[in-house]
Amino acid sequence: MKEYNLDDTHIVQLNETEQNIALATDDLHVWYGSNEAIKGVSLQFEKNKITSLIGPSGCGKSTYLRSLNRMNDEIDGTSITGKILYKNTDLNSKAVDVFEMRKHVGMVFQRPNPFSKSIYENITFALKRHGKKDKKELDEIVETSLKQAALWDQVKDNLNKSALALSGGQQQRLCIARAIAMKPDILLLDEPASALDPISTSKVEETLINLKEDYTIVIVTHNMQQASRISDYTAFFYMGKVFEYDKTRKIFTRPKIQATDDYVSGHFG
Ligand SMILES: Nc1ncnc2c1ncn2[C@@H]1O[C@H](COP(=O)(O)OP(=O)(O)O)[C@@H](O)[C@H]1O
Ligand SMILES: [Mg+2]
Repeated sequence: MKEYNLDDTHIVQLNETEQNIALATDDLHVWYGSNEAIKGVSLQFEKNKITSLIGPSGCGKSTYLRSLNRMNDEIDGTSITGKILYKNTDLNSKAVDVFEMRKHVGMVFQRPNPFSKSIYENITFALKRHGKKDKKELDEIVETSLKQAALWDQVKDNLNKSALALSGGQQQRLCIARAIAMKPDILLLDEPASALDPISTSKVEETLINLKEDYTIVIVTHNMQQASRISDYTAFFYMGKVFEYDKTRKIFTRPKIQATDDYVSGHFG
């Protein structure tokens, strides 16, 4: 195993105006008990862009992503220090109402996990919990969310069918529709295509590219081609740190850090 200098890093700062930064972390550390899984990550995510998080298995990508909307709160023994900055608020503050916050920062998981309910109810479930009751409004949100997730044409005549009867790729697009029905600003996705076949994967990728117009997207992927196809920025994680963060084009053509170069060219470790 090659030794990499953990202090040799290259992290771009967005030189855009602050309004162009949808979300940022400042010196974020995450512990599972005494295991420090994230060791001081400071990244800025640009609005209406797709950022990929890449790196070898176990390097902390999922932990970092989950901490962005406080999903790690649900795992016993975790602690987080540092800031998660969203619209002048620190989402890591105890004062944040996590249930409310997740309307703004939504998440899609690795395995499609639709509720065992109808397609229609999958999308309206959280909306109803948040007090939306108007049938006409709910119908409209169901339609626009399914259209944005590129699923509408396939399901519009069967909205009362069980979500579990859909194919894996369709279920994952339903989960994306369910997340965007809440109209979040930020959509977090953890390897959303890893359980899908190539055709479903390319549909999910197309969906994400189209969603960029309205959302800021942060996606974990172990698929380097996917990162280079769909993302504007890429962060390379290793051992709980970010070694390099830059425009995707640079990461894949002219990385500045040896570890990144080795990883993207398949010569890592
Ligand atoms: N729920 C958990 N409880 C305890 N340790 C965890 C948990 N999830 C992840 N870890 C540990 O945190 C580190 C980072 O894991 P993870 O974020 O899943 O990496 P990646 O997504 O890059 O594969 C690993 O050492 C892993 O064992
Ligand atoms: Mg993971």
